[in-house]
Amino acid sequence: MNLADLNKVARAMVAPGKGILAADESSGTIKKRFDVIGVESTEDSRRDYREMMFRAKDAMTNYISGVILYDETIWQKAKDGTPLVKVIEQAGAIPGIKVDEGTQALPGCPGELITVGLDKLAERLKKYYEQGARFAKWRAVIDVGNGIPSATAIHTNAHALARYAALCQAAQIVPIVEPEVLMDGDHDIDRCYEVTEHVLRKTFQELYEQRVALEGMVLKPNMAIAGKKSPKQASVAEVAEKTIKLLKSWVPSAVPGIAFLSGGQSDEDATAHLDAMHRIGGLPWGLTFSYGRALQAAPQKAWSGKAENVAAGQQAFTHRAQMNSLASKGEWKADLEKKKAA
Ligand code: 13P
Repeated sequence: MNLADLNKVARAMVAPGKGILAADESSGTIKKRFDVIGVESTEDSRRDYREMMFRAKDAMTNYISGVILYDETIWQKAKDGTPLVKVIEQAGAIPGIKVDEGTQALPGCPGELITVGLDKLAERLKKYYEQGARFAKWRAVIDVGNGIPSATAIHTNAHALARYAALCQAAQIVPIVEPEVLMDGDHDIDRCYEVTEHVLRKTFQELYEQRVALEGMVLKPNMAIAGKKSPKQASVAEVAEKTIKLLKSWVPSAVPGIAFLSGGQSDEDATAHLDAMHRIGGLPWGLTFSYGRALQAAPQKAWSGKAENVAAGQQAFTHRAQMNSLASKGEWKADLEKKKAA
């Protein structure tokens, strides 16, 4: 492992004003997204959609540091035969790859999940590196509900995250460590805070025990936020303040960067929250976005599977990328969204 090089990539992923596009939806998930816009999910339509974003030059060059790809996409070629990985590199962004293989029921823990995909991961990482991937992602899912999460689910998922991270670093790939506390429930922000605290403590303990170099990784956490069904929604200021308190307490400053998932927040909320955190300031790590839905909902709608809408899709993507870039510097303003809508 060359830690200096891993660190260089990790810092580039969270470079000021830039963030990560999470375009790594599995075939099942992208089908759900396409169903919403009435587009059939085929190998070609998935390629066309992703190529549209990767060729949005302004967004990719100025606001996007890296792209998380799904296995299918990393091997795909653009319509003109250029590998999509090259299209991303030519725009100045870094290709990355989702390497977990989804979740399975965790035995003994009803309603809880464990992320799988460690078997043969070392061999897969080698192939992904050869194909151009310089970072990877593994997502652990922690649900909040009646009597959950269990300590077992938190521990088991943290263990798997650390095993994955160690394998990535051995393969000279920067691991994005993503322990996601879901916002699907009816819990309030304080319950989310408490669960996320437990998850982060356990995750960093496992990373330490499995000798993962913190300088060569990026953390992808949820924010401290109320569940979507909670009657007690927190303000933007409260989300920002509690998230920063939580991260400052449990994320060592040796970690070069933190890149949030959007987790089901509205596009504008995800932007406003990141912006408010930067306005608090005094952060020891890079802090940016690694959004899936909050970057793609608008371009998906604008594109709607039609070749004549490619420019509109790219424009919608560029707008969201720019808004989040501004937020990652604490320079976003709500009026900028209104101007766009006008
Ligand atoms: P969302 O921003 O849609 O939560 O997706 C980010 C991601 O990569 C989830 O694993």
